[in-house]
Amino acid sequence: MIERRQAAEWVRDYPRPLLVGAVASHSALDTFDGAVAEGLGTLALCQQGREKTYARYFRTVRDAAGRRVRGCVDEVLVTSRFSEALVGTAAAALRRRGVVLVPNRALSSYLPIEEVEEKVELPIFGSRRLLRLEDRSERENYYGLLEKAGLPFPAEVKDPEGIDGLTIVKLPHARKRLERGFFTCSSPKEYRERSQALLRAGVILPEDLAKARKERYILGPVFNLNFFASPLAPRGSELELLGIDERRESSLDGLVRLPAEEQLSLPERDRIPEYTVVGHASSTLRESLLEQAFSLGERFLAAAREQYPPGVLGPFCLQTCVDRDQRFFIFDVAVRLGGGTNAHMSVGHPYGNALWREPMSSARRMARELRLALEEDRLEELVS
Ligand SMILES: Nc1ncnc2c1ncn2[C@@H]1O[C@H](COP(=O)(O)OP(=O)(O)O)[C@@H](O)[C@H]1O
Ligand SMILES: [Mg+2]
Repeated sequence: MIERRQAAEWVRDYPRPLLVGAVASHSALDTFDGAVAEGLGTLALCQQGREKTYARYFRTVRDAAGRRVRGCVDEVLVTSRFSEALVGTAAAALRRRGVVLVPNRALSSYLPIEEVEEKVELPIFGSRRLLRLEDRSERENYYGLLEKAGLPFPAEVKDPEGIDGLTIVKLPHARKRLERGFFTCSSPKEYRERSQALLRAGVILPEDLAKARKERYILGPVFNLNFFASPLAPRGSELELLGIDERRESSLDGLVRLPAEEQLSLPERDRIPEYTVVGHASSTLRESLLEQAFSLGERFLAAAREQYPPGVLGPFCLQTCVDRDQRFFIFDVAVRLGGGTNAHMSVGHPYGNALWREPMSSARRMARELRLALEEDRLEELVS
């Protein structure tokens, strides 16, 4: 693991203003928009063939005097191999430019997590060691942390023979490895039938099925809680709830928009929904639930601080379902900028705006923290 001391050393003589860098995918546009809103520069690290959105459509255009006319992507670095663009001499060149990397899901999708931990020689906004937490296949993963913190999560069903109510089976898609091959079932018999059908259709693989997480399906809406833990704030007042998003998943969302009769007339292969995230929308919570949401955030912060000191630095996302008794269940966590923050890009998060009295998206909140840290000469407290 690249030590936090090392990151502190890197940023000690960083040039100003900083360049906020991100792998150009996932929620990178929010990252760049937020950085620009706070007067910082931006750098998009693009995978070759996937650069157009950033290099062309959101590219910064300046007038003759150098003033920004439009766009939020100041610099574009196109690479065919992230394992080269973010390490060694390439990383040193980025450090000379003052690049702080905002980690997102795309970073850990393009690079093995070990490389992010050991080889990405750039200061990362947030805790490097907590990035691994979201990996479901890790032994020391978020379920352990949630359990230790006494946080509610959907009960695990270890043995398929023990399935006695709606259960979700979580495993990767056979071919689209970064996507989901999830399915639901309500009995051991249904588990066998559905898994067999998906295995036959080539949607899932037997080795993934054997390791799949099986848990109680929570009947209720999904709320992804986008929090921010300010590393600069005094202990006890660091937590902010910025906003809430929900996903649009294909084919699931298409299926539920069909009347029952039409669902039943679908061909077999379309009956089991897939859960490919294709968009996000903004949401709010019933107000009486907010205190519970804050309590989840506080307990998560305390547990992370105890187990992985110094704990969370900056954004984190708790993905939750709320059942009919108004109880939250956390089914996933990401200790970084969440995947749905583009839903609030530029307009800000409802709760973030209410708190800050101006448009405050997740990424703008990060950039604000960077700016304040620069002013107070405390940049090293934000990075790892
Ligand atoms: N226990 C659960 N109960 C109900 N829905 C769930 C549960 N777990 C996951 N889901 C649904 O599956 C989606 C993806 O789940 P998640 O665990 O976040 O997978 P991934 O890590 O691949 O994003 C969620 O957005 C939600 O709609
Ligand atoms: Mg998730």
